[in-house]
Amino acid sequence: MADEADETRGILRGVEGTGLRGLWGRTHIPLDRYVDTAALPALHDEICLALAQMPVDYTGGSHRSMGIMPPGAEGQAGTDYGEVIHGLDDEGFAAFRSLADDPGAIDPARRHQETYGEEREHPLSRRQMHWLKYRHGVYFPWKVYVEMIPNRWWGDKADPAGKRFTRLAETLLPRTVAFVRSLPFAHIGRCNLMGLESNDHGTVHRDGDPAEQDAPDQFVTFCPGGPKALYLWDPERRERTPIAGRAYWFNDFDHHGVEAAPGVQYSIRVDGAFSDGFFATLARDFGGAP
Ligand SMILES: [Fe+2]
Repeated sequence: MADEADETRGILRGVEGTGLRGLWGRTHIPLDRYVDTAALPALHDEICLALAQMPVDYTGGSHRSMGIMPPGAEGQAGTDYGEVIHGLDDEGFAAFRSLADDPGAIDPARRHQETYGEEREHPLSRRQMHWLKYRHGVYFPWKVYVEMIPNRWWGDKADPAGKRFTRLAETLLPRTVAFVRSLPFAHIGRCNLMGLESNDHGTVHRDGDPAEQDAPDQFVTFCPGGPKALYLWDPERRERTPIAGRAYWFNDFDHHGVEAAPGVQYSIRVDGAFSDGFFATLARDFGGAP
C-alpha cells in the first residue's frame, strides 16, 4: 500500500505550461463521481426555501486591503471597506462605531491601531456592512453568505473542535446538513454557503498563501443550483481558466474569482480533513500523469 509520502508526491508539481499550482498537475479535481450529485436538485429546493426565510450576511469587500489579490487585478475590488474605514473622519467613524454589535469594544482613541472586518479584531456587524455599502459604496461581492458551521478565524477552518452546525441550519437545511455529513471527510470544521447576487462578480483572490502553509487546504465545493462561473487566474498567461462541474476541489493557493451571471449563483464549501481512504483514492485517480 502506498504510504502518505507516495500519495502526496507531486500534488504541488504545478500545471504544465501555466502559472497555476493546481493539484497533481491538474487545474482542479472534479469530485462529481465521489459524491451523490443526484441529490443536488432536492438540496437546491431546500436551500432556496431556507434562504427566503433566514438572515443572510455579506462577505468579501476588503480583498484589496487584505493583500490577497493578484497584481494588476486590484481594480476589480471596487470600493474596499478596509480603505474606507481607514479614511473615515471622526463623525463618520462615530457612525460606523455606533452600528457595531458592541460599540463599547471599539476604542475611538485607538481607531487606527484596531482592525475591522473579515479576519480582523472587530468583525463587521450586518448593520455596518449595509452602512458601508449605502454610505460609501463598498462592494461586497458575496451578498448571500450563510455560515452553516461558523468560524472565527480562517486558519481554524479544518479544526472540528467546538464547532457545530447552527440551529438554523439544522432546522431549515436538514437534507443539506445530512449531505455534508456524508462527504468523505475524517472531520469537518467549516461549512459555508457563498452566493453572488445577479450581475455581481466575485473578486479574484487567493485563500491560502503557500509561504504560510505546506499543503493546500482540503475542501469540497458543491453547487446544488448548477455550476457557478468560477475561474482560476493564471498569473503567467494572464488568463482565466473556467472551472465547471457540480462538485470539485481546487488549490486555493491559486487565485480565483467568479464571473458575473444574470441570476444568483452559489456554492457550498466544506473544509476539513479528507479521510485517509478518500485522499488515497484521489491520489490513485489523479496522482498519475494528467
Ligand atoms: Fe476563495
